Amino acid sequence: MPEFVNPFSGSVPKKLSLRELCRALRLSLASEEEATHLYESLADATDNELAKAVLQDIANEERVHKGEFQKLIELLLPDEAGFMAQGAEEVEEIHHGAHSETASAQKPFAAVPTVGDLRSSECSCECCRRRSL
Ligand SMILES: [Fe+2]
Repeated sequence: MPEFVNPFSGSVPKKLSLRELCRALRLSLASEEEATHLYESLADATDNELAKAVLQDIANEERVHKGEFQKLIELLLPDEAGFMAQGAEEVEEIHHGAHSETASAQKPFAAVPTVGDLRSSECSCECCRRRSL
């Protein structure tokens, strides 16, 4: 419920430490993800083309906000970019089959396609298409 009539709403008794600020920024980043989910869900739930377009536009704005929070965290915490890069690299390795031997040995559902299955066929994802150019 909005509390705009209270001029002290949101006031904190002290300035945030760097760690507290970064925790607040991570919470804000998560709120942007939640907002994106909400607006995309609403867009998917209507057949009204105008509402669908506006809701998707707002969802995309939330994705921009997410990027702003992430970049700010990376500027405030020198090790953050390294962790992000490590996570991205791990997904790249899986995507390009670096772990395909392990994955196929542990594959419990043969009928469900895996990254390794996609590797054996021509992959048409955005990442692979860009790399093949
Ligand atoms: Fe936002």
